[in-house]
Amino acid sequence: MSIEKPRAIEIYSKNFIGLDEKLQNLYEENFFKEIQLKNETYKTTYHERLKDLDKVLLNFLPKERPLKILDVAVSSGLTTLEWSNSLSKNGIEHEIIATDLNLKATIVSCFKKVHILVGSNLFPLQWDIWGKCIPNYSKTSQGRNLKRFILLLIFQLLFKIFIIINPRFKYLIRDNASYSSKYIALIPILLVSPRVAMCKKIKLLEQDLLYQDISNFNRKFHVIRAANILNKAYFDDNVLLKIIRNLKSLLTKDGVFVVCRTNEQQENNASIFRLGETNKFLLLHRVGNGCEIENLILNS
Ligand SMILES: C[S@@+](CC[C@H](N)C(=O)[O-])C[C@H]1O[C@@H](n2cnc3c(N)ncnc32)[C@H](O)[C@@H]1O
Repeated sequence: MSIEKPRAIEIYSKNFIGLDEKLQNLYEENFFKEIQLKNETYKTTYHERLKDLDKVLLNFLPKERPLKILDVAVSSGLTTLEWSNSLSKNGIEHEIIATDLNLKATIVSCFKKVHILVGSNLFPLQWDIWGKCIPNYSKTSQGRNLKRFILLLIFQLLFKIFIIINPRFKYLIRDNASYSSKYIALIPILLVSPRVAMCKKIKLLEQDLLYQDISNFNRKFHVIRAANILNKAYFDDNVLLKIIRNLKSLLTKDGVFVVCRTNEQQENNASIFRLGETNKFLLLHRVGNGCEIENLILNS
């Protein structure tokens, strides 16, 4: 297995879970950072990314037990698992719902040589051609990789033709269903760390922060965390406000809201808020410089 560019078919094989934990972290880190979603956000995350925040947050948690937690935009879910472990270590009974835009995915295997990782929205997330892994984006920090751009256009066209010729695959992929024939196999997966999928304290839910059906969750959560998602680089202020207000309606009175962004030096800048009597957020504490959307949250 290549540490640089791990393939989905390897990460989601039975052998992977038997690997040493440090190796699993490394493979998963490299796997998720190469996945770009349709809305051009990345699945980048890594182990112990939010460790300092988990520790500070212990001082601000509401008293209710089990603590009901919503962790949004969790990517591989590893930071959620680490948070859950830290809470358990500190004797805090809890249940976590972890959400992300893309959790359900399918590995479409053709002739056992080509494996395409596809989201439930039919958007290709990784191309694995004869064992060579090709990320699904061509724009890098050095500009556009023209060769990859052309290659991806061709792959996407071929995939579209494949779906047009075999329309039932469209529904099978959307429903996260499995399928197997001599030439084609559909392998449904949950696009998180396999360790997270096995954790009983964490429930995974595919949900778009912008268009979520939240009515079931009104005033249900004691704590909500949004890490590395409510960034000005991803969304404009109006969209951020809409998300903040949605999340606010899910918090219990006195509930705690945590927003964090990790910078390039891997330092966390976070703000911890409490929902006050008048349905306004009050700032409880800052980690580093605080989050970049503090004002939007305080004025929401
Ligand atoms: C950079 S990762 C953050 C992962 C983790 N919270 C952390 O801090 O390490 C951003 C995640 O946001 C998710 N995401 C992007 N747009 C979203 C949306 N509209 N609704 C829900 N999740 C979204 C992506 O799928 C990705 O997994």
